Amino acid sequence: MMLRLTTCIAALSALLPAIQAQGGPPGVGFPSPWGVGGHGWDEAYEKARDFVGKLTLVEKVNLTTGTGWMTDRCIGMTGSVPRLGFRGFCLEDGPLGVRYTDGNSAFPAGINVAATWSRDLMRRRGVAMGEEFRGKGIDVQLGPVAGPLGRVPAGGRNWEGFSPDPYLTGVGMAETVQGIQSAGVIACAKHYILNEQEHYRGSVDVTIDDRTMHELYLWPFADAVRAGVGSVMCSYNKIGGEYSCDNEWTTNYLLKNELNFQGFVMSDWNAQHTDARSALAGLDMTMPGDGARGYYTSFWGGSLTELVLRGEVPQWRLDDMVVRIMAAYYKVNTGKFATRPEINFSAWMSPNQTVGPLYFKANSTITEVNKHVNVQADHAELIREIGAKSIVLLKNVNQTLPLVKPGSIAVIGEDAQDIPGGPNACEDRRCNNGTLAMGYGSATANFPYLISPIMAIRKQAEADNTSLVNIESNWDLDAARQAASKAEVALVFANANSGEGFITIDGNNGDRNNLTLWNGGDDLIRAVAGANPNTVVVLHTVGPVILDYAKAHPNITAILWAGLPGQESGSSLADVLYGRVNPQGRSPFTWGRSAADYGAQLMYKAPPPSSSPPAQNFSEGVFIDYRYFQRAHIGPVYEFGFGLSYTRFRYANLTVETTHEPPPPYGPGGGVMTPAAPTFGEIDKAAAANMQPEGFRPVKPYVYPWINGPLDPRRPNVSQPTTTTNGSAQPILPAGGAPGGNPGLYDVLYTLNFFVTNEGKVAGTDIPQLYVQLGGDENPWGVLRGFDEVSLEPGETKPVTFNLTRRDVSNWDTEKQDWVINGHEKFVFVGYSSTAIALNSSLPALK
Ligand SMILES: *[C@@H]1O[C@H](CO)[C@@H](O)[C@H](O)[C@H]1NC(C)=O
Ligand SMILES: *[C@@H]1O[C@H](CO)[C@@H](O)[C@H](O)[C@H]1NC(C)=O
Ligand SMILES: *[C@@H]1O[C@H](CO)[C@@H](O)[C@H](O)[C@H]1NC(C)=O
Ligand SMILES: *[C@@H]1O[C@H](CO)[C@@H](O)[C@H](O)[C@H]1NC(C)=O
Ligand SMILES: *[C@@H]1O[C@H](CO)[C@@H](O)[C@H](O)[C@H]1NC(C)=O
Ligand SMILES: *[C@@H]1O[C@H](CO)[C@@H](O)[C@H](O)[C@H]1NC(C)=O
Ligand SMILES: *[C@@H]1O[C@H](CO)[C@@H](O)[C@H](O)[C@H]1NC(C)=O
Ligand SMILES: *[C@@H]1O[C@H](CO)[C@@H](O)[C@H](O)[C@H]1NC(C)=O
Ligand SMILES: *[C@@H]1O[C@H](CO)[C@@H](O)[C@H](O)[C@H]1NC(C)=O
Ligand SMILES: *[C@@H]1O[C@H](CO)[C@@H](O)[C@H](O)[C@H]1NC(C)=O
Ligand SMILES: *[C@@H]1O[C@H](CO)[C@@H](O)[C@H](O)[C@H]1NC(C)=O
Ligand SMILES: *[C@@H]1O[C@H](CO)[C@@H](O)[C@H](O)[C@H]1NC(C)=O
Repeated sequence: MMLRLTTCIAALSALLPAIQAQGGPPGVGFPSPWGVGGHGWDEAYEKARDFVGKLTLVEKVNLTTGTGWMTDRCIGMTGSVPRLGFRGFCLEDGPLGVRYTDGNSAFPAGINVAATWSRDLMRRRGVAMGEEFRGKGIDVQLGPVAGPLGRVPAGGRNWEGFSPDPYLTGVGMAETVQGIQSAGVIACAKHYILNEQEHYRGSVDVTIDDRTMHELYLWPFADAVRAGVGSVMCSYNKIGGEYSCDNEWTTNYLLKNELNFQGFVMSDWNAQHTDARSALAGLDMTMPGDGARGYYTSFWGGSLTELVLRGEVPQWRLDDMVVRIMAAYYKVNTGKFATRPEINFSAWMSPNQTVGPLYFKANSTITEVNKHVNVQADHAELIREIGAKSIVLLKNVNQTLPLVKPGSIAVIGEDAQDIPGGPNACEDRRCNNGTLAMGYGSATANFPYLISPIMAIRKQAEADNTSLVNIESNWDLDAARQAASKAEVALVFANANSGEGFITIDGNNGDRNNLTLWNGGDDLIRAVAGANPNTVVVLHTVGPVILDYAKAHPNITAILWAGLPGQESGSSLADVLYGRVNPQGRSPFTWGRSAADYGAQLMYKAPPPSSSPPAQNFSEGVFIDYRYFQRAHIGPVYEFGFGLSYTRFRYANLTVETTHEPPPPYGPGGGVMTPAAPTFGEIDKAAAANMQPEGFRPVKPYVYPWINGPLDPRRPNVSQPTTTTNGSAQPILPAGGAPGGNPGLYDVLYTLNFFVTNEGKVAGTDIPQLYVQLGGDENPWGVLRGFDEVSLEPGETKPVTFNLTRRDVSNWDTEKQDWVINGHEKFVFVGYSSTAIALNSSLPALK
């Protein structure tokens, strides 16, 4: 055993320099790793290989290539295999529900479910979303999101994901992926990777060091892969000079070798830029399929068939693409999901339309395209629960909240109101009117209905005999003051929105232009607080806003952050305001006093010269959000992990133990070499076998897999580096070996135990948090490495256990290309937040 291990290590260290190439990013110039199954993928791989073995060249290509933008019924649709009765893949946005249809739910955004810090709610949200996608006949849900992670707070799409902390996001990714896939739908971890802002997203070239890549941005993707995610979407930006979808380092080396990803990589819409290069760099599916200039209006389709016939893309690479796609399919379409539902909606028509073109762009085959299948089931209850449990109570002076039948209330502000014209009045939520319950862009879904705050509060006021005045405008400050001055409690609402860069609202091109409230929200809050000594501020924002004045204001007695709660917004809020739900939300990000407080800055304007692609160096390294605040000694307004409850908790009696002595050995995780690349079936090279059959009636402008004729003479034969087309056995990286990386990384090395007691008078749920100091100047003061959700009756005490894995206490060693436990003394902190630490201990060194 010992001997074998040593031999392995020797063999690997001999291979490593080769993998690392010369100078540039590691892994460049090597063949794209082929899927090998294993670790929960074996059965799926068996079925996939069997299926792919039956396919012709053009049938294989068909499954890799989208039929084109708006050609079909889904946001993305691949070609099919009619001969075997296999329809194309239906891919549909987005991360908070089914986009562009009716009969669906509008779930709370990722950032909200992160704010619950509840693994259970993350999982149940995933299951419920998966059920809705499945019910519409969709194969792939385009979510969840770990990119952007949230490098900068103004990043337009941060709310789609979970948190700028990679550990919290990693848990969110894993739970959501498992939830979605347990409902028979393939999840898609996106946008891979470093797509941290909307400005210049299609051209920005990001420079990042290898350690930051591993410890920050790759971390949550590793969790998604370990959770068995079926697909990953490469992003728009460049990394180290190469587009993400052409990037050998990020796709071949990190995702497919080191993280042992067994599913397929699809491009973001039009994020593919090359034909053979992207194939050799590990791309497996192109979306939406069209959009390229040249012979086939697609980088793939007929073009890929040609590349395979010319030998520029080896058969094993094409076979690997299709095996990966089909393996993801079989992984989720199993057991009770073995029969595939029909697609029963069309993304391209108004959700209220029933009859329309099956082939939208072609405007042909008019039929019943939307069966209006209602897939909401009882998900409203879960949505309301997540909405309530994600509310972060930031301030609550003298038990202002919960409200107990106040005599009078003033509700003030646009953000409390119904949306004029209905909740879906603006497509892709491209306006900011009325209450804000989701951001804007492709990560939206139609609301079936939207319970506004005023609707829910009015209902409660009626039940309580509370007199209520509602001021709808943000701009009539006199009316606001007057209403506020007469009420026992003034509830003032404001919001801040953001989204995807293809939409601009009030000059905000996806990313936020500032960190203040929108539509005069700050002035409104100040006016109300100037007139009422019991002012409650309610915020619907996509991330942090500048709030120091409100925290300090003596008349502002309570502040709640409600994020983007989805369709049950008002009910969720009322549950917390009136004490039916004791808030458990903890802020998933840090609240600073200015954008400058956060260190790293969003690049709104690329510096000259304008001729070169805009470059961005993530030189802040791992120091974003709370890690930066701690390092720069900046006191936040409200810290990461902060949130109040209607009760009080106390922690006691921390013990820390090593689980094994000596610790379990850490060696190569999955052997040293892969098998050689397999191929499935023979390719018929005859031109006729690969051309559109006589009599076939094409849908225009579908992208098809057929070549135009005998190999197109206008197309020069480009010979690819033989290393990248080499299908012989390849080295497995030492940090790899299983989905998520070396399985030894997940060995539990330490166990921590302590007790939490509810010292207040009402039941509540606490979120104890574990931070680890890894030691040395290169590491943050502390990094989140554990949290739990503990429900306690008044006076009750419960034990809490945190496990620390090898990965949790390791740093990435760039030279070794592996995780190592550094020699510094380490400490653990158990806290109510990232700064309110109650218990601490040193971590015993491993013997
Ligand atoms: C490719 O897919 C298209 C669209 O689904 C279909 O019409 C065509 O017949 C397929 N081609 C082959 C070779 O199966
Ligand atoms: C979607 O509608 C089709 C056609 O009515 C139906 O066959 C299919 O079962 C529906 N899907 C679900 C999951 O209800
Ligand atoms: C369908 O919705 C569109 C807007 O999405 C609206 O203009 C139209 O009036 C609606 N039609 C019906 C029949 O409700
Ligand atoms: C689509 O075709 C129908 C008839 O089949 C026609 O009435 C309609 O105007 C066409 N729509 C467009 C946008 O061309
Ligand atoms: C809170 O209550 C205490 C004691 O009743 C009182 O002195 C203080 O002014 C109150 N603070 C606010 C902000 O109302
Ligand atoms: C809705 O919002 C848009 C932009 O956010 C604004 O221009 C428009 O005036 C608003 N409409 C209403 C009715 O408030
Ligand atoms: C509200 O007032 C009515 C009549 O004034 C009374 O009958 C009822 O009990 C009150 N309800 C509550 C909840 O106080
Ligand atoms: C910040 O942006 C919002 C939305 O565009 C705008 O309403 C607000 O006035 C801006 N704040 C400042 C200080 O310019
Ligand atoms: C607090 O509210 C009272 C009105 O009740 C007002 O007179 C006072 O100026 C307010 N305080 C501040 C700091 O705005
Ligand atoms: C990026 O920043 C790091 C850290 O400041 C620096 O070492 C590196 O040279 C920079 N790279 C580029 C390409 O500017
Ligand atoms: C903590 O330990 C002390 C001393 O052993 C003990 O008295 C106390 O009850 C413990 N607290 C809890 C919450 O277990
Ligand atoms: C801690 O790890 C042990 C051993 O791997 C496992 O049995 C236990 O469930 C884990 N506990 C928690 C709270 O994660």
